[in-house]
Amino acid sequence: MTCPFYQVTDLTDLSESVRSVTPPAVRWSLEDGVPGARVILACRDMTRARIAADDIRQRSGNGNVVVKKLDLASLQSVRDLAKDVQENEERLDILINNAGIMMCPKWETEDGFEMQFGVNHLGHFLLTNCLLDLLKKSAPSRVVVVSSRAHERGRMHFDDINLDKSYSPGQSYSQSKLANILKTSLDRFSDVPSRIIYI
Ligand SMILES: NC(=O)c1ccc[n+]([C@@H]2O[C@H](COP(=O)([O-])OP(=O)(O)OC[C@H]3O[C@@H](n4cnc5c(N)ncnc54)[C@H](OP(=O)(O)O)[C@@H]3O)[C@@H](O)[C@H]2O)c1
Repeated sequence: MTCPFYQVTDLTDLSESVRSVTPPAVRWSLEDGVPGARVILACRDMTRARIAADDIRQRSGNGNVVVKKLDLASLQSVRDLAKDVQENEERLDILINNAGIMMCPKWETEDGFEMQFGVNHLGHFLLTNCLLDLLKKSAPSRVVVVSSRAHERGRMHFDDINLDKSYSPGQSYSQSKLANILKTSLDRFSDVPSRIIYI
């Protein structure tokens, strides 16, 4: 399947931008320098998030790095973060949906979805949709979705999306990453400014 492929270097032309990053995109934030950009690290572990933010501030010299709570395994947490960003940020230029969980046992999200599908796909899906108006208002804005080559082995189990009948960590991970690709590919036919990275 062909899909929109996004180069990280394409991010460098937006120096005065606001970026919301689900962890651990620390490396990207450092590498693209972000002079002048406001960076929001959206993380579930606030202690580690604060340490990462300090590190980015020190290394990049950009003091405008903030942390906000986000647990992608909770749709309420996703809505809360989106509301916070909508109410407190004037613009959102780049949303990087990077966080992911890999090859875990059959765990459930707060809302009862299989964990890898819930975190890797549903959480990001909801976050993107909740922030869409702000992203559109900030055009030309971008949504970057980090998938995986594992999507090539994936299949959508629409009749058993939580893999209740037969769970395997690899099958679940691949399904969630294929869902990233399918959603982002469909975005090309709408006005969602999504691009995909798979590694
Ligand atoms: N590593 C690879 O070889 C590889 C290959 C292909 C694709 N990818 C993709 O690249 C992305 C980053 O992977 P990585 O290897 O850097 O993973 P990683 O080191 O395991 O980091 C995953 C991050 O996701 C966060 N996260 C997990 N569950 C979360 C939740 N419920 N809510 C909020 N944040 C959550 C973790 O937060 P905590 O710090 O709180 O744990 C962690 O910061 C993922 O989307 C992954 O699927 C990775």
